Amino acid sequence: MKPYHWLILLLSVALIIVSVRLVYVLSEKENASDGTDSEAALECIMTRASVRDYLDKAVPDTIIEKILRAGMAAPTARNRQPWEFIVITDQTLKDSISDSFEYATMVGKSAFDVVVCGNRDLWGDNDTHEVGNWVLDCSAATENMLLAAHALGLGGVWCGVYPNPERISKLSGLMRLPENLVPLNIVSFGYPAAEVTPKQKWDPAKVRYNPGQD
Ligand SMILES: Cc1cc2nc3c(=O)[nH]c(=O)nc-3n(C[C@H](O)[C@H](O)[C@H](O)COP(=O)(O)O)c2cc1C
Repeated sequence: MKPYHWLILLLSVALIIVSVRLVYVLSEKENASDGTDSEAALECIMTRASVRDYLDKAVPDTIIEKILRAGMAAPTARNRQPWEFIVITDQTLKDSISDSFEYATMVGKSAFDVVVCGNRDLWGDNDTHEVGNWVLDCSAATENMLLAAHALGLGGVWCGVYPNPERISKLSGLMRLPENLVPLNIVSFGYPAAEVTPKQKWDPAKVRYNPGQD
């Protein structure tokens, strides 16, 4: 064989390798959009359940941040993002919350908790109907965090604070919250101690299509 024959052979082999790689990458992309991702997202939504019992196992900071990022990805009215997220890992503070709120005793055993607060400085004009939107915005963030935690193998539960004035002032006092923050809830997170079965809630009787159009 002449030297240029070798060159042609080498180039042909290289071309075959690049083509095979390209076909592989393209088929990977196709697989990613074949519905697997959307099935996983729906599965996460449909299998989430409140988890109130946790393993004694720490959650890495990177996971906590992923959950917080999911919270801040929520939709908000006029994109105001009128929230503040207070992360609680200190066991003394956790114990005093657990002791003070009978409906939130799981805080004492959770790996960490997030108190989702509305920020008066960010939630818009107090004199308009818009003022109520902070609750909706912070609720959307809370659900995002619960879903993210579930997707990451953790469990969590929403413990209500707002609109109960007694709970709001008790928690605000305990955490020495500044005046501009109003706690909506305490969300406890941790690795589930046991499997929790999601409640079946689908009820077609609660759905209507196109009312008033007959
Ligand atoms: C606004 C709100 C307040 C809640 N407060 C509490 C609470 O104080 N303590 C608690 O254990 N669970 C609380 N939960 C969790 C509910 O009990 C739970 O979501 C409901 O029973 C449905 O169960 P699931 O989350 O497993 O689907 C609250 C949930 C919401 C949305």
